Amino acid sequence: MRITVALTGASGAILAQQFFLALESDTRVEKVHLVASEAALRVLAEESGISGRQNLAQKLLGFPPRKTIQHPIEDVGAAIASGSYPLDAMVVIPCSMGTLAGIAHGTASNLIGRAADVCLKERRRLVLCVRETPLSLVHLRNMTAVTEAGATVFPVVPAFYAQPQTMEEASRHYVHRVLAHIGLAQPDAFIWGA
Ligand SMILES: Cc1cc2nc3c(=O)[nH]c(=O)nc-3n(C[C@H](O)[C@H](O)[C@H](O)COP(=O)(O)O)c2cc1C
Repeated sequence: MRITVALTGASGAILAQQFFLALESDTRVEKVHLVASEAALRVLAEESGISGRQNLAQKLLGFPPRKTIQHPIEDVGAAIASGSYPLDAMVVIPCSMGTLAGIAHGTASNLIGRAADVCLKERRRLVLCVRETPLSLVHLRNMTAVTEAGATVFPVVPAFYAQPQTMEEASRHYVHRVLAHIGLAQPDAFIWGA
């Protein structure tokens, strides 16, 4: 699989980290395209002590990535900006309300917005891991709009029934749910009743 992973300025840097770790070790994943917004870098610095845009995948993983290539946010000429590039899914994790709004209205004002817009027009999987609370009517309407257009709104909500003991456990369980949604069920995922 070829997957685009976009990091935006919502809280949840740990989710991005766990997501990348899972993709790197999954043999079904051939290539990962990484794009991060400016605000994502700010949140990463606040929450994970990660600073700077360079070699972001390596900073997230803690080791050199084998299949991730990073694109500048302003590079609307990157492969993932075109429908002709074969891509299986795009996941925005975490997804800010700002990026959600841009996708809902098709503004395509940076590579994240354009790549998401391409997923919608090509009828490809687009998963938005939105995080905000409480939600305004504007947020809710934008979530409705992207759902009508074919995206999956996948709110960052912990599964208390899995009884996570740490933030890592709670994040991993959430990330496993997202991965299963795009066809990458993980062998060590918690499954209720299993
Ligand atoms: C530490 C921190 C946490 C934030 N958490 C959220 C959040 O959970 N959800 C959200 O929509 N915006 C959040 N924001 C605000 C966004 O980063 C801001 O709206 C930004 O413009 C989004 O830009 P982007 O969509 O290009 O990443 C947060 C900002 C900071 C600095």
